[in-house]
Amino acid sequence: MEQKEKNFFIQEIDVEHICREFGTPLFVYDADHIFNQIQTFQKGFEKGDLKIKFACKSLTSLSVMKLMKSYGTGLDTVSIPEIKMGLMAGFAPDQIVFTPNCVDFSEIEQGVDLGVRINIENISNLEKFALKYGRSVPCSIRLNPHVAAQQHASKVEEWHKQSKFGISAFELETVKQIEASYNLDIQGIHIHSSSVIMSSEVFINGAPVGFDIAMGFKNVEFIDFGGGIKLDVGDGNKVIDVVDLGKKLDVKFQEFCTAYGRKLELWFEPGRYLVGNSGVLFAECVVRKTNGYKEFIGLNTGFNHLIRPMFYNAYHGIINVSNPDGDLKPYNVVGNICEIDTFAKDRVLNEVREKDLIAILSAGAYCYSMASTYNSRYRPAEVLVINGKAKLIRKRDTFEDLIRNQVEIDIS
Ligand code: LLP
Repeated sequence: MEQKEKNFFIQEIDVEHICREFGTPLFVYDADHIFNQIQTFQKGFEKGDLKIKFACKSLTSLSVMKLMKSYGTGLDTVSIPEIKMGLMAGFAPDQIVFTPNCVDFSEIEQGVDLGVRINIENISNLEKFALKYGRSVPCSIRLNPHVAAQQHASKVEEWHKQSKFGISAFELETVKQIEASYNLDIQGIHIHSSSVIMSSEVFINGAPVGFDIAMGFKNVEFIDFGGGIKLDVGDGNKVIDVVDLGKKLDVKFQEFCTAYGRKLELWFEPGRYLVGNSGVLFAECVVRKTNGYKEFIGLNTGFNHLIRPMFYNAYHGIINVSNPDGDLKPYNVVGNICEIDTFAKDRVLNEVREKDLIAILSAGAYCYSMASTYNSRYRPAEVLVINGKAKLIRKRDTFEDLIRNQVEIDIS
């Protein structure tokens, strides 16, 4: 028997001390790791046309946004509150791209009022946008080029026939008619494919489709490849070599720019790639029990804090921080929510005792941002380790937080 996960990023700092200071369950993020991810991402794109827009839905935090800004990224947003937070964090409106999905046109109007870059993904809103703003406000269009993407979980399948996302490539003629009738200023073509993409081919093969489409528009300034790059989380699935992808895409992009007759920007909107492996959820083993078949480790957290294993069947590495040399044993690692709430089945860990500190890895993306207070349990605190110091960036919920918006009526 072998425990797969041997390390995690904050090995060099005293995580037990941090957890004692802030309590568990606790999300801890590492600024240096985020910075390294950004640098690795940039490495392949030597021509300097790359613009990274951090998909802040993955880790929605003012402090993390400020950090991203200090590292030179822009912001990818999907709602008005995300935009407002981005502005609060100091992003200039034109560093923020707004790609809402399936929203009432009034949200797009609010986005325009806030001055951000508008990315439209359906004909209905494009028509309304054209009618109201004509050429006065530029926009980009999110397309579904109908190229199948590869991913591990059908729930995040975004491309191809089932996809609700983007303007179908079959509707391109309609887009062109609207563009011509209202003299629209379409500055960008957006082709985010899906999440958890394991192979460069999805981008390499998708790119020419995007380029072909862009050729049909006169004022294009950028092509946006979206996000979706899978991380190595220890699940044994292959991952993209982003430096190699960058090099290949860079060449194709330069060829396209030459053909288009103008130097364009190449945008990516990574969320998970930047923050996924930069975060850990620390929890305490509070109960050990057996049902005669399985040994259970009960943690003081649950799927309300980290829903991905239950929702997507996603793999997260788990480590017993307190007993790194303990005998290896298989456990079902479970949470405290009153329904099936499993982080991992038959996971081999160093022997776990009550009060041991347990690290759930790859918890930087889509964990806190998808957390809830189900079972009336408080959402954890969040800490960012920056310049060797652990700083609280979000307080743990309190009872007052849970009841704040409830209205007690008179029942008589
Ligand atoms: N751009 C657009 C338009 C997107 O829809 C997304 C993610 C991203 C960028 C960032 O994708 P990333 O690089 O983070 O994969 N909750 C799921 C993931 C849903 C992603 C939705 N869109 C999960 O926990 O795996």
